[in-house]
Amino acid sequence: MSERISVLLSEEEVDKRIKEIGEQISKDYEGKNIHLICVLKGGVFFMCELAKRIEVPVSMDFMAISSYGADTKSSGVIKIVKDLDESITGKDVLVVEDIVDSGRTLSYLLMMLKERKPNSLKLCTLLDKPDRRVIDVNVDYTGFEIPDEFVVGYGLDYAQKYRNLPYIGIVHLNEEA
Ligand code: IMP
Ligand code: MG
Repeated sequence: MSERISVLLSEEEVDKRIKEIGEQISKDYEGKNIHLICVLKGGVFFMCELAKRIEVPVSMDFMAISSYGADTKSSGVIKIVKDLDESITGKDVLVVEDIVDSGRTLSYLLMMLKERKPNSLKLCTLLDKPDRRVIDVNVDYTGFEIPDEFVVGYGLDYAQKYRNLPYIGIVHLNEEA
């Protein structure tokens, strides 16, 4: 089976929106330090671009949670693949994600991080598919709300491919070929 990618959000649109979110976050966190937590691997491109647009002091940590195989549907089974290196207790934590889909991954992650007693805990996602939500998740900053399509690029993968696309594309599966 092969697949074709069509552009949903161009590189220019994504870059412009990240700049806007960075400005908003800089205002909201004025006088504070932000501890950014990137959910690997998908969130890494977005977090790096976003961090460059934030004007208050920033520190970063990385964590990996897995709920997906090579399939396009969430299994609901979540495991911590890599935990944070540093304590988040007392910090102003901003979790940076690539996409909120069913909400299963994020609701679990946020619950777990809350138990570690950060000073504040917010969520920033590049993409949101509200039509797909199964578990309610409070998103503080959203790049784009998108339709229920499987997307790749800007960190998002289809079976580990296409993360490096500089735009967001929709995956079309071709059964023949
Ligand atoms: P959730 O737990 O269903 O919200 O799934 C969140 C995770 O599923 C994301 O962090 C992605 O890794 C993955 N995911 C959900 N939708 C897509 C998509 O359209 N393209 C690529 N990955 C996706
Ligand atoms: Mg993710």
